[in-house]
Amino acid sequence: METTGLAHLLASVETAAFESPWSVYMIRGSLDQSARIGLLDVNGKLLPVRTLAEFGTLEAPERIGAYYLAKQNDDFTELLRIAVRPEFRRQGFAHRLMADLAGYGRILLEVSDKNQPALALYESAGYRTISRRKRYYGDGSDCIVMEKR
Ligand SMILES: CC(C)(COP(=O)(O)OP(=O)(O)OC[C@H]1O[C@@H](n2cnc3c(N)ncnc32)[C@H](O)[C@@H]1OP(=O)(O)O)[C@@H](O)C(=O)NCCC(=O)NCCS
Repeated sequence: METTGLAHLLASVETAAFESPWSVYMIRGSLDQSARIGLLDVNGKLLPVRTLAEFGTLEAPERIGAYYLAKQNDDFTELLRIAVRPEFRRQGFAHRLMADLAGYGRILLEVSDKNQPALALYESAGYRTISRRKRYYGDGSDCIVMEKR
C-alpha cells in the first residue's frame, strides 16, 4: 500500500474518533521514514506492520478499529495520535496499542487537560506529567506533556 492509501486508512479512523480529525493531508505530512504506526483490526488484533517500508507489502488492508501514529527521534519516540473507533472503546484496544508503543523505549506525548479518557489511559499505562503549557489549545485548555521511560 502506498503512502496516500495508508493516509486514507488512518483518516477514516480519525474522522470516526475525533471532533477535529486530522485530514489526509496532515497525516501524509507525518508519514515519513520516522513514522511508527500501530494498527488494530476490528477484532483488536495487532497487524504486523509498523513502518512505511513494511506497509508497502500490505496489499489489502483489513478494516481498522484503532491506530496510533508516532515519530521516532534519536533518543525518544513521540506519540502524535492514538484513536479508537467509538464502537470499540472500553474493550482494551488503546491499552493494547500503548503496550506495543512501549517497545520503543522512552516515549513523550502531549494531551489536553480536558481529555479525561486519554489522561486516564496514559496514567494507567505508567506515564507521568513532566510539564504543563497553560491555555495552549484553541479551546483554552492546557497542554500536559507526559513521559514514560
Ligand atoms: C482515549 C481512547 C484512545 C481510549 O481508547 P479505549 O480503547 O476506549 O481505551 P481502553 O479500553 O484500552 O482503556 C484503557 C484505560 O484507559 C482509561 N480510559 C479509557 N477510556 C476512558 C474513559 N472514557 N473514561 C475514563 N477512563 C478511560 C481507563 O483507565 C482504561 O482502563 P480500564 O478500562 O481498565 O478502566 C479513546 O477514547 C479515543 O479514541 N478517544 C478519542 C481520540 C483521543 O482523544 N485520543 C487521544 C489524544 S491523541
